This record gives sequence, structure tokens and C-alpha cells, in this order.
Amino acid sequence: MRQKFVAGNWKMHKDKSETIELISSLKNKLSNFSVITEVAICPPFTSLELASELIKNSTLKLGAQNVHSEPEGAYTGEISAKMLKSFGVEYVIIGHSERRTYFNESNEFINKKIKRAIEFDLRPIFCVGETLNEREAGKTFSVVEEQLILGLQGISESDLLKIVIAYEPVWAIGTGKTATPLQAQEVHFFIREKIKSIYDTKSSEKIKILYGGSVKPENARDLFLQPDIDGGLIGGACLNPDSFFKIILSAE
Ligand code: 13P
Repeated sequence: MRQKFVAGNWKMHKDKSETIELISSLKNKLSNFSVITEVAICPPFTSLELASELIKNSTLKLGAQNVHSEPEGAYTGEISAKMLKSFGVEYVIIGHSERRTYFNESNEFINKKIKRAIEFDLRPIFCVGETLNEREAGKTFSVVEEQLILGLQGISESDLLKIVIAYEPVWAIGTGKTATPLQAQEVHFFIREKIKSIYDTKSSEKIKILYGGSVKPENARDLFLQPDIDGGLIGGACLNPDSFFKIILSAE
């Protein structure tokens, strides 16, 4: 049995006071429940230090939304894995479709980031997923396969299990169009089979695969009930403590 995992990707939202408000409210809700689900929040860089203070004495874990592939150097505006680690960050989202699209991140660059994150003891949340055009052209599986093979190139079996995979169909992100539980399950199963063929059965059974794309309290439970869906990477709905909390409870 894989423990369920729910992570909130805040994207470019929440300033300092809004960060305090959101985390306090979430902590308050969680304090009345002993949830088994692992829960992480991924605020923007500017809120990481504050978030790391606020989640002390709670079960919440901290994630970042990006990391650079180089350990340090002249990369104006970038943040290194070592810097993240020094703020108590445990997870880092890598390969999100918004970074692939708006910042032209390639599979090769994503692969370098994953390796760098692992070197500094961060756990990558590695995102894959097809666009609407690719789905309509019948390319969903080949696109996801390529992203997996190139993204995981050179990553050992023991390092693989530090990674959480997130399947986020691009057409479902921020659009209100969720993949149906069966549509999502089909791709999650494919990803697990792919991991089995690149690595082995044991790794494929252990690795967590999250679904992301318009997850809401109304659809979370049916998605999380699918055999190969181990939780969710939540965008819009994690900005509201009530809906994020409801999604966490759906994973229980
Ligand atoms: P939405 O939940 O807003 O569709 O975003 C999903 C996502 O991109 C999480 O990383």
C-alpha cells in the first residue's frame, strides 16, 4: 500500500500576509484530525522561509516550485538546490508544464535539475503530461513516455524512489476540465508499466504517481480511488484552505 500524498502548488500566488493566513488556517483545520495522508505545500520562493517557520510542529511538509540545474554560479534570478535545502525544503516541483511552455524547459534540462535536486537531498515532484493537441493526435502515451525516459535518464534505482511523479495533462490545468478518473487511471497505469520496464516491478509498485489538473473537492475522491493514483498535485484549489483541506480528507 502506497501512502497517499497531496501537494499544493501555490504557483505565483500569496504575499507575506496571505501566506500567514493560508498556513495558519490550514494548520488549524489539520490540528483536529490525525491524517495519514502526507501533505506538502509549495509556496513561492519568497514565502519559503516564513512557511518553514509556520509549519514547525505540524505534519505539513515544504516544497519549492523550481530549482536551477547548476549547484551555484552566475545565474541571475535563479535559486539553487543547496539554498532550498537550507530553508528546510524537502520537495521540489520539476518539469511543470508552465515551466516547459513559458520558460522553454527541455526534457534534458529537467533531467539535470532532477539529478541536482537529488544530489542535495531534495525530493523531486517530476511532472509529465500531454497538451490537448497531442491528446487529440493520439500522442498521449508517446509524449509521456518520452518525458519519462529523458527526464529519468541516468537516475539509479535507489534514487528513483526519492522521486514522486505527477501526471498533469496540460489541457486540464487551470481549465476546470478534469481528466475523468478512468482517463487519468489509464495514463497512471501506463506510467507505472513504463517504470517497470525501465527499472523493475518493485520500483514500479513503490513509486508514487500523483494526478494534477483541476482537482477540486468535488472530484478528488473519485480520482484518488483509482488503483494507480496516489494523490494529487493541486493548483487553484490549494489557495483556499477549505477546499485544500477537503481534498486532503478525500485522500484519507
Ligand atoms: P489546477 O489545479 O489549478 O488545474 O493546477 C494544477 C497544477 O498545475 C498543479 O501543479
